[in-house]
Amino acid sequence: MIDNSLLAYRFGLHQARIDRDYTIHFHGPSLQVFLGLDADHGTAEAFEVFPELVGVERKITSIIDGNSRETSIKRINRILFGPPSSEVFFDLYIIHDEREADAAALVVKDVTGECLIRQSLQQRRNEIHLLQQHLSEKNAQLTRSQEELRELNRGLEEAVESRTRELKESIELSQRLFSQTVNTLMFAMEKRDPYTVGHQQRVGTLAEAIGRELGLSEQIIDGIGVASRLHDIGKIYVPSEFLTKPLSLTEAEFNVIKTHSRVGFEILRDIEFPWPVATITLQHHEKCDGSGYPDGLKADEILLEAKIVTVADVVEAMATYRPYRFSSSIESALSEIETNSGLLYDADVVKTCVRLFREKGFKWKS
Ligand SMILES: [Fe+2]
Ligand SMILES: [Fe+2]
Repeated sequence: MIDNSLLAYRFGLHQARIDRDYTIHFHGPSLQVFLGLDADHGTAEAFEVFPELVGVERKITSIIDGNSRETSIKRINRILFGPPSSEVFFDLYIIHDEREADAAALVVKDVTGECLIRQSLQQRRNEIHLLQQHLSEKNAQLTRSQEELRELNRGLEEAVESRTRELKESIELSQRLFSQTVNTLMFAMEKRDPYTVGHQQRVGTLAEAIGRELGLSEQIIDGIGVASRLHDIGKIYVPSEFLTKPLSLTEAEFNVIKTHSRVGFEILRDIEFPWPVATITLQHHEKCDGSGYPDGLKADEILLEAKIVTVADVVEAMATYRPYRFSSSIESALSEIETNSGLLYDADVVKTCVRLFREKGFKWKS
């Protein structure tokens, strides 16, 4: 027989002999110790020591008789030594021993380490599988969340787009309403004085062009345009026979007409324009040398916007037919403002206005 202790030491093998009546003969203490049996006990009933062999008796007999080449009978695991190193796994072999008739070698190989590694690997595999499942659930969740987020974004973008469109339409409507309101006020005044129909509109066109030529911002130019279109609104207060009188006015009548700047200011001052429209209206007959009305302001006291409206007003009025005189030409209007440049009218504004007509070909639309 093979040296038990050497096998046990080198390969974890424990050997005994089993004969035809299923008696196990222990040759040394190795297998007994391994199985936790009493070391003095030399033989044992195979099915008591290995109850797992019940049912494979024919196979064992066939091996003992030398008729079978099969040697590996069972892989067994059981608690042999009790905790903590409780579970032991072993492979049980029955090998035909040529030298002994009616008997075979019984070998137990301790594979606990291998099985524990396999178990641990399986456990790791299970853990990895669980982790993969968890991960794929999380991935699915993430995909759903991303889809929901995309859906929300789409909804939000549509809502913003629709709100922006509504706001834009609302702003455009407000702008149209504002512009229509200014025009209505302008026409209301002009209804009372048919000779000045279109005067404020033309003053506006010229005053805006002067502002643009002077390099003012679009915001200031917009204010100049609105103030120009309303600058004579105070004439609503002046009797219409004064406005349309074909002959020269008396001083008293002219004094009534002169009130239109202040009346215009009073009409407009409570409207919350984003520009000084009321003040421009109040100052549009002021002159740089202080000879204007209603307050006799001097150059540095008059708003630039008002100085621009003043020049545009004078040039438009001189170039257009009025009941008390025939229209003169643009040239004589320009020469009037040039003559009084720096005296009655702001020199920069005059220079710009003259350049617009003489060099830039400014014309009112007929
Ligand atoms: Fe005026
Ligand atoms: Fe005017």
